[in-house]
Amino acid sequence: MKDILIAPSILSADFGNLKEEIYKVELAGADLIHLDIMDGHFVPNLTFGPYGVSCIKKYAKKPLDVHLMLDNPDEFIHPFIDAGADMVSVHLESCKHIQRTLTEIKRRGVKAGVAINPATSFEPIEYILESIDFVLIMTVNPGFGGQSFIEGVVKKIERLNKLLIKYKSPCVIEVDGGIDDKTIRKVYDAGARIIVAGNFIFKNTNYKKAIEKLRKACQK
Ligand code: DX5
Ligand code: ZN
Repeated sequence: MKDILIAPSILSADFGNLKEEIYKVELAGADLIHLDIMDGHFVPNLTFGPYGVSCIKKYAKKPLDVHLMLDNPDEFIHPFIDAGADMVSVHLESCKHIQRTLTEIKRRGVKAGVAINPATSFEPIEYILESIDFVLIMTVNPGFGGQSFIEGVVKKIERLNKLLIKYKSPCVIEVDGGIDDKTIRKVYDAGARIIVAGNFIFKNTNYKKAIEKLRKACQK
């Protein structure tokens, strides 16, 4: 496996030209395609649902990393998995019985992730690590692309990484929000290995160069 996986977030792509955008970003070196699902309640924005994911699944070659920003994720995990999600993350803040939700995702043969907002502690997941494949640490408040990286969250990534090492957990840390060729080094050093980037890639005229810059910034 590569040292880091780059997951472009199509939230910042040209939605009128999505097929071409995904083709281009995969050719440019994307490892995963990050899809942000927003309900207008859990976050103040709307995107698309399972039908949108099933359309993307027809042409995307890389695994689909589906980030559910929903008040009621339990009602939607199966429709999104049926639509072709390869990884599904649900927010710690919106799941009443998150271990049950994660178990249900894993039962379908899909990677299960816990997403955590900037002001939320990760401590509760210490008790359910065996049910988690990856932890998605938000480095912005979810809802929009192009926001500024919240520096204070780096400490959380470091602490979570120590916890995972302590338990010899194979769980991977993903980060999402405000990642560019400078902030990536901070989250990489703190232990993150799946990197979501929206604006930094899609607002760049050359996606390949943008992805290369991200990878290079993590080299010693
Ligand atoms: C924010 C989303 C992110 C967003 C990241 O709610 O979860 O995936 O697209 O965009 P950038 O990289 O532009 O901050
Ligand atoms: Zn996201």
